[in-house]
Formats: sequence, C-alpha cells, structure tokens
Amino acid sequence: MASAQPSQPNLREFDADDILCDPKSSIVGSGSFGVVLVGKHKSLNKLAVKVLECHGGEQTKERFKNTAMEELGKLQTAQTENVVRTYGWLTLSCGMGIVMQYYEGGNLKDFLLNNRITKGIPLRLRQLVETADGIAFIHNLPGQKLVHNDIKPENILLTKDLHAKLTDFGSAKLAATTGSTTVRLPATGEKIQFTALYTAPEKLKKVTIRPKKEHDVYGYGLVIHMSLSCEEPYPPTEINTLTNAIINGERPDCDAIDDLKAGLENNDKGAVEVMEEEMKRCWEHDPTRRPDITEVRDKFQSLVDAQNPSAILEQVTNAVRQMDLKVERPAENQLVPIRQFSPRDKTFLTTNESSRPAVNIDLPSTSRDRPAGQSSRPQVMEAANGVTSSQQQGIISGQFKVL
Ligand SMILES: Nc1ncnc2c1ncn2[C@@H]1O[C@H](COP(=O)(O)OP(=O)(O)O)[C@@H](O)[C@H]1O
Ligand SMILES: [Mg+2]
Repeated sequence: MASAQPSQPNLREFDADDILCDPKSSIVGSGSFGVVLVGKHKSLNKLAVKVLECHGGEQTKERFKNTAMEELGKLQTAQTENVVRTYGWLTLSCGMGIVMQYYEGGNLKDFLLNNRITKGIPLRLRQLVETADGIAFIHNLPGQKLVHNDIKPENILLTKDLHAKLTDFGSAKLAATTGSTTVRLPATGEKIQFTALYTAPEKLKKVTIRPKKEHDVYGYGLVIHMSLSCEEPYPPTEINTLTNAIINGERPDCDAIDDLKAGLENNDKGAVEVMEEEMKRCWEHDPTRRPDITEVRDKFQSLVDAQNPSAILEQVTNAVRQMDLKVERPAENQLVPIRQFSPRDKTFLTTNESSRPAVNIDLPSTSRDRPAGQSSRPQVMEAANGVTSSQQQGIISGQFKVL
C-alpha cells in the first residue's frame, strides 16, 4: 500500500521519434483532452502518452505549453505508489504529450462495469484503499496541498494485478486556464453530464468555486458507489435536470447494493455495510460533514487487513483471466513513431503523405457509447524491439474499430 515518501523522479523531454506505436491498436483511452496512446521506447519499453492537443497562434501555444508544464509539475509533486508514474513530456506538431507508465488493466470504470468479470469484495476494497491512499497523499503534501478536482472511476487506472493508480491530475485546472480556444473542451452535453455525475453539489452550484479537498471526497463517495453497485450512478438524464437534482440532494439509488448485501455473508456483508456507510458520509450535502480521506482509507484498510490475503490474490487471478487481455505483437515494420500521430483525425499519417489520413479509427468517446460489459480498451500491444524511425516510412491502410 502506501509509500510515505514521494519518489520525485526527474521529468525529462522525450524525442517523438523514439516512441513507436502500432497504428492498429495504440489508442488505449480517450477523454476530454484527446487520446492516450501506448507505445514502446527503446529503454523504458512500454509507455503511455496522453496527447494534449493545442490549436492557435504562437502565443496560444506558448501559454498552453506553460499550463501543461504546470500540470506535469503537479504530477511530479504527486509521485507516490498509488499515483500514475510520470516520466516526462514530448513535443508534437499538434501540441504535446505527457509520458507515463502504461497500465495494462485499463480504468476502474471499465473494470467495474464489465459484467463478465467476477469482482470479490476484498479486491474492490483493496482498490478503494489504494485510491484513497493516492488522494490522501496529495491532500497532505507538506507545504503545497493538492486537490485532484476530478475524482471519478475513469481517472483510476489498474495495473495488470489490478492495483489502483490515480491519474488525470488537474485537467480541471487546465480547462480553466487555457479556455475553449486553446484545448479541446467537452463539446457535447453528454460529456459535460458525464463529469457532473461526480461533481459536488456546491461546485455544481458555482463552477468557479476554489477546488477543495471536500470535492475530492465527494467524488470518492461516487467511486465507492460504483465499486459496490457496478452500475452508472444515475440513469441517462438531461443535464440540467440532473444538475438540479444533485444540487437539491439527489444521490444514486442503492438498490443494487441492497441486492449485493442480500447475497453475502459474514465478513463480506459486514465490509459492504461499512463501505456503504462511508459512501454516504463522503457524499454528504454539507461539505463540512464529509470525512477526511485518510479516515476513510484507514477504516477500509482495517477491513482489508481482516481478510485472508490469499483470497484477494485468488480473486485477482480469476478476474485477470476473465478480462482476457490479449497481447498483440505487431511486426517491426508496422510500428510508427508517435510524431506521426494526428489527434484531429485519430490517425497516424505517413511521413511522405502527411496531409492525408491513412488509417481511420472509429473511437468511442466514453464507456456510455458501448454495450454493457464491453471494454473500451483495444487489444494490448506488445511492441517489437529495435525499430528505428527510418524504418517507418510505409503506407498504412485499412479501417478498424477500437474494441
Ligand atoms: N497510463 C495509462 N495507461 C493505460 N491507460 C491509460 C493511461 N492513461 C490514461 N489511460 C486511459 O485513457 C483514459 C483517459 O485518460 P485521462 O488521463 O483520464 O484523460 P482525460 O484528461 O482526457 O480524461 C483513461 O480513462 C484510461 O482508460
Ligand atoms: Mg480523465
């Protein structure tokens, strides 16, 4: 679990020719700022790159870069065991990329909503402890406390052993400082609603309110809800109606949690009762009544400590088998430097035909676009070794769907 000290790695600049991607399976996620790609680096092996797209004149680009570097600085400050490991950045013609460790398990939302996976209570508890631990770390940094400001299941990544890592730091700040002309902000009502689901009522009432720890605790309450119910918090509702309902005290219903409890015994049932109690404390309407995240973490940790560790390991093994992570090994000549990625077209362009999209990708923007139980992740790419950028000149063709 928790490491008390930040590891403070030095962030470095990467060359966009040194990270190679398989154009057919490199997009591993998408969110409000663009896409996340998996690629291979000669010394660090598999990496994830979050592409932050920026359009506009030189001044806008400079301002965007400063904000993105500020974001990276926050990520560096937040480096601890349960926060995504960040290595540095790279510059692309369309903007820049944040270079991080790649996590094979996808995000917590896709995991919880995948009904083909059996999810034991001890395993879910462990993920909640790890998430709370990441939040507690940033909330208690000496001197410069950080507020994540966008706690939700999509922003929690899973390792191949299903350990949780907090990610997507300060996107809300990025959105606020760069404005809609410089970065791609959520454009549709659905995307905004998507975020509103996890936003504290006092912030929904006044979006410009200063970020506070209590907002993260509220979002964490909704994470507990999804962890227990394995459902979206609210049925599809028109954005203004939903926002007003949350402001007026509406919270997700607990029918699925009641059903869960009815099928459990002893330890697990007792644990779910405590989790439900904490969930309700975290999403209290009055922010001053919400608990400190460390208190919740410690409570959940004591529940994990009461479990048999081998039971958790068994649950991990079963769940990973059911997730069926396929590993693709593309031929060396299929790999393309990340420099050739065009976020606007979600396409890798060939170097000699850079104005024409060579591969079209039909990308689901959120988990809501997919049938229940289907993951957003494409098959996991296992990159081949030793490919130089000069080998990546061929034309890539064909059309495919990201699974
Ligand atoms: N390091 C990573 N390893 C694996 N998948 C990732 C990684 N970072 C992000 N993703 C995937 O991409 C999605 C969007 O990433 P995120 O950082 O939340 O971007 P946004 O700011 O656009 O929401 C995540 O929900 C996850 O599915
Ligand atoms: Mg996100």
